[in-house]
Amino acid sequence: MKNVHELVEKNAGLLAVFILISISFGALVEITPLMFQQQTMKPVDGLKPYTALQLEGRDIYIREGCVGCHSQMIRPFRSETERYGHYSVAGESVWEHPFLWGSKRTGPDLARVGGRYSDDWHYAHMMDPRAVVPESNMPAFPWLDENVLDGKYTAKKMEIFRGFGVPYTDEDIAGAQEAVAGKTEMEALIAYLQSLGTALK
Ligand code: HEC
Repeated sequence: MKNVHELVEKNAGLLAVFILISISFGALVEITPLMFQQQTMKPVDGLKPYTALQLEGRDIYIREGCVGCHSQMIRPFRSETERYGHYSVAGESVWEHPFLWGSKRTGPDLARVGGRYSDDWHYAHMMDPRAVVPESNMPAFPWLDENVLDGKYTAKKMEIFRGFGVPYTDEDIAGAQEAVAGKTEMEALIAYLQSLGTALK
């Protein structure tokens, strides 16, 4: 009985199994309660699901890798709230699948960029960031202005989101393709950006 720990220390396979068990226990204790807390599950008042166009914009945001340079999560520190506005709360991202909080800020946080600039500003900035912010090192995304959406999968996407609990109505889904078809990717992305962080006043 005296050297039982040797068994674990000299057997990498067994050690791995025990490590796995202890880590999963930690995860269970930390993560499981969050799944049942109202504060993390309940949408903030005034939160609206993305419109069809905003939803397409979000997919373009993901595709273009904007999240690689822009976080969407304001931390509760004075340096952040004074620059970006109210810190992010869980109830704002309950309908985000997946969430785009991000962990890298080459550019500023975008969690509350909605309404901060005009659509024209975003257009000029995305076509050529240096045109509006001379010192910018953000890449230009001019093709977004050429690519036109057909909205073929928009309704399908919304149905899937509804399966995740996003409250889309039948009318939202029925009108999705029409709302998107013919719009450029640029228009969709700007619609998405303008919606960011506007639910929490
Ligand atoms: C290589 C990193 C990088 C990528 C990728 C990138 N950006 Fe940026 N972005 C920046 C930097 C740096 C700034 C700050 C300078 C400026 O305003 O151009 C910025 C600024 C911005 C701003 C202004 C924010 C503010 O509060 O002033 C917006 C909006 C923005 N980016 C949107 C986007 C979108 C949308 C995409 C994807 C299509 C994107 N960015 C991709 C680096 C990046």
